[in-house]
Amino acid sequence: MRAFCSLLLLAAVPAVLAVKTQDFKTCSQSAFCRRGRGLSARAQEASSSWVSPYSVDASTISIAPNLASFTAAVKSSLYPDIKFGLDVRIHDDGVVRVRMDEVDGLRKRYDGAASWALVAEPELSSKIRWSVGKADVRAKYGDKKDVEVVVAFNPLRVTLLQGGKEQVVLNGKGLLHMEHFRAKENSPKEEPAGESEQVVMQVNNRAWFEGDSEDEYWEEKFGSWTDSKPKGPESLSLDISFPNHGHVYGIPQHATRLSLPTTTGENAYYSEPYRLYNADVFEYLADSPMSLYGSIPVMHAHSAGSTVAIFNAVGSETWIDVAHPSPKSTETHWISESGILDVFIMPGPTPADIFAQYTRLTGTPALPAHWALGYHQCRWNYISSNDVRDVQKRFDMEDMPVDVFWLDIEYAEEHKYFIWDKKNFPDPVDMMHDVEDIGRKMVVIIDPHLKRTDNYPVYQEANERGLLVKSADGEKDYEGWCWSGSSAWIDFFNPNSWDWWKTLFKTLPQGDRWSWTDSTIDTYIWNDMNEPSVFNGPEISMPRDNVHHGGWEHRDIHNINGMLLHNLTSQAVMTRTDPPRRPFVLTRSFYAGSQRFGAMWTGDNLGTWEHMAAGVRMVLANNIGGFSFAGSDVGGFFGNPDSEMLVRWYQVGIFSPFFRAHAHIDTKRREPYLLDEPYKSIIRNVLRMRYSMLPVWYTAFRETSVTGLPVLRPHYVAFPHDEAGFAIDDQFFVGSSGLLVKPIVEKGATHTTVYLPEDQVYYDYFTHDVHRGASKGKSVTIQADLHKTPLLIRGGSIVPTRERPRRSSPLMKYDPFTLRIALSNQDVAHGELYLDDGETYSHRDGHFVWREFIAEKTEKKSKAVRISSRNLAAQKPGEAVDGVALTKYDGSNDFAKSMADVRVERVVIFGAATKPASVKMGDSELQWEYTQGVAASDKREGMASVLVIKDPGVSITSDWEIVVQA
Ligand code: GLC
Repeated sequence: MRAFCSLLLLAAVPAVLAVKTQDFKTCSQSAFCRRGRGLSARAQEASSSWVSPYSVDASTISIAPNLASFTAAVKSSLYPDIKFGLDVRIHDDGVVRVRMDEVDGLRKRYDGAASWALVAEPELSSKIRWSVGKADVRAKYGDKKDVEVVVAFNPLRVTLLQGGKEQVVLNGKGLLHMEHFRAKENSPKEEPAGESEQVVMQVNNRAWFEGDSEDEYWEEKFGSWTDSKPKGPESLSLDISFPNHGHVYGIPQHATRLSLPTTTGENAYYSEPYRLYNADVFEYLADSPMSLYGSIPVMHAHSAGSTVAIFNAVGSETWIDVAHPSPKSTETHWISESGILDVFIMPGPTPADIFAQYTRLTGTPALPAHWALGYHQCRWNYISSNDVRDVQKRFDMEDMPVDVFWLDIEYAEEHKYFIWDKKNFPDPVDMMHDVEDIGRKMVVIIDPHLKRTDNYPVYQEANERGLLVKSADGEKDYEGWCWSGSSAWIDFFNPNSWDWWKTLFKTLPQGDRWSWTDSTIDTYIWNDMNEPSVFNGPEISMPRDNVHHGGWEHRDIHNINGMLLHNLTSQAVMTRTDPPRRPFVLTRSFYAGSQRFGAMWTGDNLGTWEHMAAGVRMVLANNIGGFSFAGSDVGGFFGNPDSEMLVRWYQVGIFSPFFRAHAHIDTKRREPYLLDEPYKSIIRNVLRMRYSMLPVWYTAFRETSVTGLPVLRPHYVAFPHDEAGFAIDDQFFVGSSGLLVKPIVEKGATHTTVYLPEDQVYYDYFTHDVHRGASKGKSVTIQADLHKTPLLIRGGSIVPTRERPRRSSPLMKYDPFTLRIALSNQDVAHGELYLDDGETYSHRDGHFVWREFIAEKTEKKSKAVRISSRNLAAQKPGEAVDGVALTKYDGSNDFAKSMADVRVERVVIFGAATKPASVKMGDSELQWEYTQGVAASDKREGMASVLVIKDPGVSITSDWEIVVQA
């Protein structure tokens, strides 16, 4: 069967196997990018004599009654008859939104990108007073009135200052250019003879700015493709500078370093700009600014002094050049194919502020179901119901934990998603129930292309309802080629598709409507190919002149397209039960705001060390883009990794927010139970490690669901003032837990160096070796034999774990906890634990447990340490859970009651300097064991003393205190 599948696919999709990077445009092959870079080159050449032709007409400034916003007319000296409108507004959290559009133009620019990304219309500030001067309009705000926005009139320039220092400047380099709509007839070549001289003169007048040719304004060729460009040129160029910030991060998705390398200027690292154009890039490069599957046009700019960020809400293809005119400043140039100018400037000034500001705009990540943080076993493909059962059995026989089994496209008859291939999956619901037996789940793939055939009810219904994307003529349904052969695509921009799509996922019959009665409410969804991937389309996607609902061309919404499928599928999964349950939907394509709908992965990586390392950086970049629930295919999608590589890849995987192994259909089976010893046992332990740390992951997800602070935090986020950490992207912190991870991503490693950013003690999680940082930062050497991931606990942290090996996470529900207390240099520590039922929304009604653990000296000068547990939810009810602010928290809620018998079974304290005289709870002495550490010597840094308190007999839900008397 496996061979059969393989043959079938090879026969069906010859195009995809031929894809090479040359199938994707470079900037010089894209007319608008060429024009944008041309503009920048001319500006560079003209140097100080370059002046932006755009200016604000001061007489038109109109301050809105709310006072927080104003509008004004903008003109370009090149086209005096063309009108532009500017709208600047300040939100109540200090975010500045700058919008510009053409007014009364021949056509309308697409202005809907922000509406798909934003979670709600932002509230405007009530404290702004704009003052209109001769040369600019400005407003000061912020608690200390140290933030200032200045909109200069001539040329138009928008500056955000903080403490008098320029933070963000729009159009400071004069590269703003909104190509206005024009009639094709006005093109000089086609002008009637008498007027042509005048037109040629005008063109020459503009050539200094726009160039001297109408470079593919009306039609564009790429390979065998012709883009008809019926609207003509409408690109948007904008320079955004960060004069006081030497590092920029974000704009996922690219396989590049976290601190984005330069693309222009002397010694540019890349010669191409970063490209955002969602694309299915076959065998993508591990170090490249090329486009990948998703786009989040969000960029952080960072320095030791402050962090600022911008969100450029554009849905069309966008290229971004990055340069550092000096080590401490950054200039960027954004070139988009279409759409209005809609830029949000986030003032920070800390990374945490930026995450709060960004997620107030686009939403925090949804709190996932708890099981979704377990291990996911996928492959293209498990080929039959019995194959699935067999894989599950093998995991159980080998005592390897796993929560989710996945089915790729071969479950579906002729790749008609939802429709089981009954030859191989004769009993899908029984199979799913077998998997669900110990709380496991299944995830099944549903792609957005529909096989065009009469015997496919989903296609038929979509067709009959007129829900399909149209070709360039706006009439005919677009037809392209994907896994299912000749296919059509649902147009999720059409609101009529929404309820229809949601109904498909209902597990009960829906009258005369088709619904997925061959599934269960524990079946979750994987959305793939939603860039969209079209095997025989330009750049493996849809033609840009395809037409969507409302008459918008595909070019206008391309980067948003994939998010709509993810959004709708997640709503469908959530609402198939009443009351709703938390959905799980994985997506390959994404946009700003996708974090609200589920998880993403980094697509079809290669089974190489280079890709393993790239995956770590890409997942970090996604975390910066607000989308924490991210992972890479463990093992690499293509190729057959050897056992060492596989072990290291699992070690990377357990420290990814989303942890799934996946493999291409042509690879050898590589489920972890198939490995020889010692690799098999090592991976078993690695999997168990992930499961033991589920409380840490879940607690980190609670935090991001409220504050937007990412689950994985690179150094510049965790230590924003430490310059030495700004470029580090191969080690990171997990949430606020104090765990510092440096995955090994190279062959044969036995040691690695880890950078410690502060004068604090860090403990090796496994060996208890002590590593001391320094106030100016210090690198230390950590042992990293194959069985060991370099993992440190920062002094000052308390890490809750559950250490009973189980087969799935639901089986751990009532398991006891271990608390690992890593005492700081000052003998204190702090940690958090969040728990709820992991599946429903009852946490929003207050059914959860949120604890704080504290270790501190009993008195200032005392050597006795008190360890206590207190109810954090009662202290911060409004901050407790995703989305909904509770006004009051009742500690004896149903969930907390159900957990009352769950114990703390062990407390492990690192760094207690001397053997205790006693360890007491109240008056009773507890059982404990003390292992004296080893002092540091020249050769090694020493090993921490470890105090283990056994079974203190306390509940995880109650307040308690243990005193360790020195
Ligand atoms: C795409 C996905 C990959 C999946 C395959 C078949 O290549 O990225 O994960 O296995 O399609 O569905």
